[in-house]
Amino acid sequence: MDSHPQLCQVIGDRIAKSPDQRITFAEYMDIVLYHPEYGYYSTQAINLGKQGDFFTSVHLGADFGELLAEQFLQMWEILDKPVPFSLVEMGAAQGYLALDILKYLQQHHPQFFAALRYTIVEKSPAFRQLQQQRLQDFQVVNWCSLDEIPSNSITGCFFSNELVDALPVHRFILEKGQLREIYVTLVKESSHGSENKQNSEEKSLLESLGCGVFRFAEVIGSVSTPRLAEYFDLVGVQLTNGLYPQGYRSEVNLAALDWLSVVADRLRRGYVLTIDYGYPASRYYNPRRWQGTLQCYWRHQRHDNPYINIGRQDITAHVDFTALEKWGEEWGLNKVGFTTQEVFLMMLGLGNRIKSAIDSEQSISKVLSLRDALHQLIDPLGLGGFGVLLQSKGLSSKESSQPLRGFSVPEPVFI
Ligand SMILES: C[S@@+](CC[C@H](N)C(=O)[O-])C[C@H]1O[C@@H](n2cnc3c(N)ncnc32)[C@H](O)[C@@H]1O
Repeated sequence: MDSHPQLCQVIGDRIAKSPDQRITFAEYMDIVLYHPEYGYYSTQAINLGKQGDFFTSVHLGADFGELLAEQFLQMWEILDKPVPFSLVEMGAAQGYLALDILKYLQQHHPQFFAALRYTIVEKSPAFRQLQQQRLQDFQVVNWCSLDEIPSNSITGCFFSNELVDALPVHRFILEKGQLREIYVTLVKESSHGSENKQNSEEKSLLESLGCGVFRFAEVIGSVSTPRLAEYFDLVGVQLTNGLYPQGYRSEVNLAALDWLSVVADRLRRGYVLTIDYGYPASRYYNPRRWQGTLQCYWRHQRHDNPYINIGRQDITAHVDFTALEKWGEEWGLNKVGFTTQEVFLMMLGLGNRIKSAIDSEQSISKVLSLRDALHQLIDPLGLGGFGVLLQSKGLSSKESSQPLRGFSVPEPVFI
């Protein structure tokens, strides 16, 4: 599969115009995924799901959304049934999760449904369009950016499923015990190997050529921001303790911190629920995980080369849940609980759904496929191993003391 030529041109231009002829990996990932015309999430929006590049819990049926809806209902009850109660879904992709939640609440909990305001924050214009089509029957839904939500205005719950892993990350490498950053530059393809593209004649050539003549490559330099070193203080990881090998590389998701501080600022009273794949920092930055967690997905194939299939494949990195927890504390978010998706969904009643699927009088093939979908949601080696972090803000001590159903068993130990 070829890279998207216009997208390569855009990235190449950005590199050529930057002072050191290089951009951070975070800038590269941001353009590759989110360029409004040519980015992966603009052109491949249709390509999610069982037949696409990757699928999420949402593509396994309505159960995931319905169980989440049960958790939202309990949040509303704990907060003494405020009207309106806002659900703010961030990164809603094709809008299936919103549809499952809204349909279920309308049918099973009409009083809560009547109190609801459902806001979607979506960066991709293509996905926003899909969502608007899919959800057109629901008047309660509105779209805006996080910036458009006034400070301290939301009573309810901000939530996301697989948003944070899709935010652009910085990449770093340890060289002689020093934290250094991995940048993206251009090299010219030649029959005698490749050479750095430097002179201005080549720069103007680039303006008229796509990815065929130049390719993107990594170059190492000093860090672009002191925030990278500060991050490790935040999460309590000491990269200079002698345990990390020369050449150890990984990622830092500063965009996740920026995102969380805005969310915390907009929330007046309620919760932030984050579901994603990832680990606590001690496991994320284990010296043995020396190549980081960056992954690319193309038609269900997983690999670690973000410089091929540019604009045609997804790029993600695991989530450091310790960073969300610690950074959240600095912004007034208290950790309510952290668990796995397996435990979370079981506590919300997924076990009963498996039983009902088996007891139902449907054809054996239907029963088996239902059961298979439910099992996938709780498979500890797959979606069931995802982390589920719940944070809260502005709750009274009585409200804080009420255990939420999805978090009512002790936190699992992540090694
Ligand atoms: C992997 S998809 C999420 C899938 C979806 N939530 C699901 O469960 O199937 C990531 C989504 O986050 C959106 N996104 C990425 N960055 C965003 C941001 N800063 N604000 C809002 N949406 C964002 C993407 O456009 C996409 O819809």
